[in-house]
Amino acid sequence: MRFETVTFNNDRTMPSIGLGVYKARGDEAVKAIKVALDTGYRLIDTAAIYGNEAEVGQAIQESDVGREDIFLTTKIWMPDYQDPVTALNTSLKKLKTDYVDLYLLHWPNPKQFDRTIKAYQTLEKAVKEGKIRSLGVSNFTQIQLDELQKHVKLTPVLNQIEVHPYFSQKEMLKVNNEREIITQAWSPIGGMVERSDGSELNVLKDKTIMQISEKYDRTPVQVMLRWHMQNGCSAIPKSVTPERIRSNFDVFNFHLEDEDMALMDSLNKDLRAGPHPDQFNG
Ligand SMILES: NC(=O)c1ccc[n+]([C@@H]2O[C@H](COP(=O)([O-])OP(=O)(O)OC[C@H]3O[C@@H](n4cnc5c(N)ncnc54)[C@H](OP(=O)(O)O)[C@@H]3O)[C@@H](O)[C@H]2O)c1
Repeated sequence: MRFETVTFNNDRTMPSIGLGVYKARGDEAVKAIKVALDTGYRLIDTAAIYGNEAEVGQAIQESDVGREDIFLTTKIWMPDYQDPVTALNTSLKKLKTDYVDLYLLHWPNPKQFDRTIKAYQTLEKAVKEGKIRSLGVSNFTQIQLDELQKHVKLTPVLNQIEVHPYFSQKEMLKVNNEREIITQAWSPIGGMVERSDGSELNVLKDKTIMQISEKYDRTPVQVMLRWHMQNGCSAIPKSVTPERIRSNFDVFNFHLEDEDMALMDSLNKDLRAGPHPDQFNG
């Protein structure tokens, strides 16, 4: 299946839409990744803290798609910033591969930011050695990016941050763009869409998004993923449900008109689901 890509500041490319696997466990994770690869996904997003790198590695090995055709992202968890080489090698072993396409510092860890900087500097060497193809960050604010960039050689290729229609982060998108850093949206469809209490973060039930989805004869999730892509963002929706995995990837053959992009933009409520990067320490 045809898909779109984004190009990093180091000229490498990455598929714009990938499968997130946070909270996907055991066999469920293996099956979901295989369905995704069969569907045409070529980007898988995991992290050491998700506890499923071994399942990701297993699914890739068992699939018909070659490792070289898959873009694999994992992330280092904050306490491991003390020894990033061991953390990287442990992830590679679990993933059953000798390189990752993208390695991210999972959170900035503001109370020990000097350690964060040192970890990034150490990982720059792993880029040279070929164990990491591209190095990036996650959940970094403008101030944290600026501070990091004062001390490192490689500009992060990507900043993975929470972005969805109720938390559109336009300012952070601009900050990343100005630094030639790709923005990748986590919880791109609101993350907690299954909340049974019908609380505000249920983006899937948003009336405006439902109206737009009717206009294009698309699902609300497909509309949200188009909105991300047309804003220049990569997105990694998570699902372990085969029909949803397939449907979430069917987003490359329609285009939201400007007026609908503006409507989507107007939904922002500055409603963050995850912690604030200034307050989250490992
Ligand atoms: N860097 C970070 O700090 C960070 C933080 C959070 C997440 N992430 C990454 O971002 C990925 C995505 O974020 P997320 O998992 O929090 O949230 P999300 O992708 O916004 O939402 C996932 C939820 O939506 C459901 N869903 C998926 N497709 C659907 C569809 N078509 N219709 C209805 N429901 C649908 C999933 O259910 P089912 O699985 O049951 O189908 C799951 O409950 C994660 O998996 C992880 O890889 C990174």
